[in-house]
Amino acid sequence: MTTLKKLLATSAFTLVAAAGTAQAASLTLYCSAQEDWCQLVANTFEETSGIEVNMTRKSSGETFAQIKAESSNPRGDIWWGGTGDPHLQAAEEDLTMKYMSPMRDQLHPWAISQAESSGNRTIGIYSGALGYGYNTDLLKAAGLKAPTCWADLLDPSFDGHVQMANPNSSGTAYTTLATIVQLFGEDKGFEFMAGLHANINQYTKSGSAPIKAAARGESTVGIVFMHDAVKQAVAGFPITVVAPCEGTGYEIGSMSIIDGARNEDSAKAFYDWALTTEAQNLALEVNAFQVPSNKSSNTSPAAPNMDDIKLIDYNFTLYGSSAERRRLLSKWDEDISTLAQ
Ligand code: F6P
Repeated sequence: MTTLKKLLATSAFTLVAAAGTAQAASLTLYCSAQEDWCQLVANTFEETSGIEVNMTRKSSGETFAQIKAESSNPRGDIWWGGTGDPHLQAAEEDLTMKYMSPMRDQLHPWAISQAESSGNRTIGIYSGALGYGYNTDLLKAAGLKAPTCWADLLDPSFDGHVQMANPNSSGTAYTTLATIVQLFGEDKGFEFMAGLHANINQYTKSGSAPIKAAARGESTVGIVFMHDAVKQAVAGFPITVVAPCEGTGYEIGSMSIIDGARNEDSAKAFYDWALTTEAQNLALEVNAFQVPSNKSSNTSPAAPNMDDIKLIDYNFTLYGSSAERRRLLSKWDEDISTLAQ
């Protein structure tokens, strides 16, 4: 019996099926992973469960802000994907609800520790390391030295060549800010962000946009999760992927049920399904190279090997806390985004 079939026999699915006899069950899905993966996940769940899915893709920080703004009258049911920090903040602010999935014992310890540190209001669905990628053709044409470290991106020769997202809207960029602060300390970390700002050509809304721009030849370097850079390289663009020499942070991409969800049973059915190997293996169909949280799911051989990357001991509890995330973002707004370029 497949995991999906077993799940269909569990209560969440049964409840949804029962509800379906009166009125078609539906689900409003807020998705913060890559658009093509969001689409595939939404369509496949709709086909396998018979639950109608309305999906919208927004970046992690934007989705957090939307869920907060809607909290007196929630419109979304489930938030799938996006970096873990804003999911943890949502948990702390009671914007998401407690849920213990029967699938939990199939997950890696890092996915469960994300659940435990949130009082079981969120859970890990994938992980991936931060880094950057660059367009080898543009780098050569500009006569730039191949960067291998974070510090290399501060060199004045990279003026106008580096792109990253805005940490307010993007979980990728917030992970970058928190990583730099953890690597270099707060004062030196903000000095680094100021130096980087001098070389930035644009702060995008979405975290993966900078590497798509590099792939298209519109910008040289994109600071992104390494799996997003690998996706462009595998698609045939001249992108080199870098795991910075000083070490780097990582994300625990997460999933949470929105507190007050109108379609709570559908949300639980989706949640359980999203933790199955069948659902997680969909990632491979769209070249999503994150590491999946179910121990039996497949990881692509093209995915960055987390064991080969110098990872910092990213403090999710601190950097996913409401007070710290708010404080760091307003400090970045005041001290960095206002600087001349
Ligand atoms: O593109 C996929 C991805 O990098 C996920 O791994 C991550 O959780 C998400 O995007 C973050 O997106 P954003 O930076 O736009 O919030």
